[in-house]
Amino acid sequence: MRRIAGACLFVFVVSVAFASPVAAEEGGHAYVGTKNCKKCHIKEWKSWAETKMATSFEALRPGERSEAKTAAGLDPATDYTTDPECVRCHVTGYGEPGGYDIAKSPEEQEGLLGTGCEMCHGAGGTYTQDEYMSLKNKEYSRPDIVAVGLTDVITEEVCVTCHNTDSPFVGDDYVFDFETRKEEGTHENFPLKYSH
Ligand code: HEC
Ligand code: HEC
Ligand code: HEC
Ligand code: HEC
Repeated sequence: MRRIAGACLFVFVVSVAFASPVAAEEGGHAYVGTKNCKKCHIKEWKSWAETKMATSFEALRPGERSEAKTAAGLDPATDYTTDPECVRCHVTGYGEPGGYDIAKSPEEQEGLLGTGCEMCHGAGGTYTQDEYMSLKNKEYSRPDIVAVGLTDVITEEVCVTCHNTDSPFVGDDYVFDFETRKEEGTHENFPLKYSH
């Protein structure tokens, strides 16, 4: 209990001291972007970078995936990178604190393009602080980081926030097969070194 109380106090102090536009809203946690996770998780990053989710933002650019767009009744020459109706499923943390901001250019927020780590693992603004998941605290207690935003078990619910029939590329008969798509669509899994 002492430890949890200390951690909460720390978060409180940090959020007061560094009140900034990316500070988490009450109860929520800010996004930090994929580049932040890459620093410590290079193997998962490399494997993720090979999936289409890493580059899913690129699909919105004019001239990309022209055949698929035409087939879906969209204009392949249109720039969909500023269309909120598309961007929300093709970036990390759309409209959330620290997340993708449509008013800024994509170049200014490269770490938030595509389906980044945090879209499955949860916004990392708090759980990547020193006293949680960090090189100073490699043996963090897992319940502690889950309490501050790490997704406990990645279930189908996480995926179907985007993999649903709001996407113009899938028909009403779209079925999302979680187990198969998890194999294809996430990243290679590597055993953890420490106990948590
Ligand atoms: C400063 C280093 C650092 C950063 C930055 C970092 N992590 Fe970690 N992470 C760790 C360490 C250390 C572990 C424990 C590794 C082990 O046991 O082998 C870990 C473990 C994890 C785990 C396993 C959790 C569990 O216990 O089951 C996940 C998932 C994870 N990190 C995701 C992320 C994501 C997503 C980000 C970016 C938002 C991120 N990490 C940023 C250091 C970091
Ligand atoms: C509800 C979330 C959602 C919305 C809204 C959405 N997409 Fe997507 N999009 C997805 C998902 C998920 C996939 C991948 C489908 C799959 O593989 O199951 C996808 C796939 C695509 C593809 C690849 C298609 C292919 O067959 O190669 C393109 C291009 C694309 N989307 C563009 C757009 C554009 C343009 C818009 C806006 C008009 C849009 N998306 C709106 C979630 C969404
Ligand atoms: C933030 C929205 C979002 C979430 C959450 C999401 N996806 Fe996706 N996913 C996409 C989009 C968009 C694409 C299409 C990428 C493209 O074609 O450019 C995609 C593509 C994929 C692909 C095709 C990858 C490839 O390289 O061919 C698989 C498989 C997949 N997703 C599985 C999953 C699974 C499993 C989950 C949950 C654990 C999940 N997705 C969560 C948006 C999302
Ligand atoms: C589409 C969903 C998805 C995305 C995106 C994603 N992960 Fe994961 N990640 C998973 C799943 C699923 C597991 C296995 C654990 C589980 O089932 O809960 C996992 C496990 C991990 C682990 C535990 C060790 C391991 O290798 O299994 C780490 C660390 C991790 N992810 C980091 C990352 C980082 C860093 C990124 C971004 C570069 C990322 N993940 C992107 C779904 C995702």
